[in-house]
Amino acid sequence: MKIVHTKTELRRERQEYSGRVILVPTMGALHDGHQALMESARLEAGSEGLVIVSIFVNPIQFDRAEDLENYPSTFEQDSAICEAAGVDLIFAPAADGVYESDSSVMVMEKTLSTTLCGAQRPGHFDGVCTVVLKLYHLTQPDVMVFGKKDFQQVAVIQRMVRDLDLPVEILPVETVREENGLALSSRNSRLSEQAYTEAPVIHATLKRCSSELQSGAVKPAEVTAFFQQAFESLETAVRIDYVELVDAETMQPVAEIRKDAILAVAVFFGDIRLIDHITVQTP
Ligand code: PAF
Repeated sequence: MKIVHTKTELRRERQEYSGRVILVPTMGALHDGHQALMESARLEAGSEGLVIVSIFVNPIQFDRAEDLENYPSTFEQDSAICEAAGVDLIFAPAADGVYESDSSVMVMEKTLSTTLCGAQRPGHFDGVCTVVLKLYHLTQPDVMVFGKKDFQQVAVIQRMVRDLDLPVEILPVETVREENGLALSSRNSRLSEQAYTEAPVIHATLKRCSSELQSGAVKPAEVTAFFQQAFESLETAVRIDYVELVDAETMQPVAEIRKDAILAVAVFFGDIRLIDHITVQTP
């Protein structure tokens, strides 16, 4: 496995290669969820293909300065995980190694990112699209792999690929969970011990709420109250950022379940913002 730190080195490596290329964009702090992305990438690439993992904490997708400052950085461990997963090339640029200091052009997505995380984190998905487009140009992959945990991110990137005519396939990979249901996230390592013990309630509540929506016992307008009640007895200070039932394609809120919808939640457990979702099938 090779590691390159500059765009020039990356371009040179890429130019020497004519086979199938699979890119897994990450911000590091890798865990078993990322390992699943890399394994899918390895399968897609076959033994002859090139699997590239980018590790870059993209400053322009953070809406809160303290979130960016505290984002975990575990490069030694990350490269060992990449090596074990059969990655061929890591692109790990310096913090100032991706954008020009007077950079003034960005990608803007205007529809799918108006709800959920897009509504709560202004500019977040524009930052994501911009860096993903840059990584796309730098690596010219056949396939880019993303985790389904960030389902709105996947939808927004698929829209960018469609609208900007990028000749690349997007491969979404299933969310990996702890046995207790907690979705793996780089942010879990920043939870207090108490919050980490209590955070599985998010997935458990999603499951309960989803089946009550399907049976009609809970109405779409009541989902926030349902979660508030479920979090009431926790010791951790919990603040709900949003709970929403949205159309799986448009990301717009639905008042009635006429086709499969997504129940999505973002919650601050202490200071740490966690997201998760579940598909709610038509009754
Ligand atoms: O999902 C992430 O880790 C990031 O949003 C991504 C896609 C690597 C862009 O910075």
